[in-house]
Amino acid sequence: MDYYKEGYGNYMNFHVLTLFPEMVTQGLNTSITGRAIDKGLISLNAINIRDYSKDKHNRVDDYPYGGGAGMVIQAEPVYDAYVDLSAKLYSKKDINNSNKKPRVIYVTPQGPIFNQNMAKEFSLEEDLIFLCGHYEGIDERVLEMIVTDYVSIGDYVLTGGELPAMVMIDAISRLIPGVLNNDSSSEFESLHDNLLEYPQYTRPEVFRGESVPSVLLSGHHANIEAWRRQEAIKRTLERRPDLLPEANLSKKEQELLYKLQEEEDVTIQPN
Ligand code: ADE
Repeated sequence: MDYYKEGYGNYMNFHVLTLFPEMVTQGLNTSITGRAIDKGLISLNAINIRDYSKDKHNRVDDYPYGGGAGMVIQAEPVYDAYVDLSAKLYSKKDINNSNKKPRVIYVTPQGPIFNQNMAKEFSLEEDLIFLCGHYEGIDERVLEMIVTDYVSIGDYVLTGGELPAMVMIDAISRLIPGVLNNDSSSEFESLHDNLLEYPQYTRPEVFRGESVPSVLLSGHHANIEAWRRQEAIKRTLERRPDLLPEANLSKKEQELLYKLQEEEDVTIQPN
């Protein structure tokens, strides 16, 4: 299989079990993930579950036992697609790794919500298998047999698992060394250290009467760093205060936070 690349953690092989493989490949073959695929830093293997149907009309879904609306994806084609993929993966792995099964992520609103820490954890794997459902879901028996992780991308219901799988693949890919042009830029991202990113500015220096903060023009790197850190804390307090308990703040930064919180209490007066 030419999609499979042997290595030691500096790349990622994504496998997606789906009824709409072209949706996944067309989406991810574009922009930064597309370039990463071209450069061989990640690989994308979209597998059509329908190819494993034994039905003469290629059907993979059926009515739910017990009645109810919608259709359910049958266990067998999903299971067969998984077994076929696993056989290919194991035959390529060295003997020491052969007992390490790849994680199978079922994208579903019924899982914990995907976040940056999960992206980091998944980025350490060599292979990740995403299973995308449609209709009213997938027969529970095959989920119990093959799924290792249930993950949601948020508390809303989409028409299928392809977009959530693409969201997760994008977030994981940018953590693979070499995928972003500047290796350190994924470090200085929104949510680094559980703080939101500081505000950014570029030319012109004055835009419709609004100037760039003068500290950024000072060339004084320590002051710029301090200002950025302070702005990150302020912004997190304003927009995502729920992140602050997990943020890694120095004593001085804690004090700043208390001061900002006090100021907020003063300004937010009941009518
Ligand atoms: N499938 C449908 N909705 C979803 C969601 N919010 N997250 C993950 N998978 C889904």
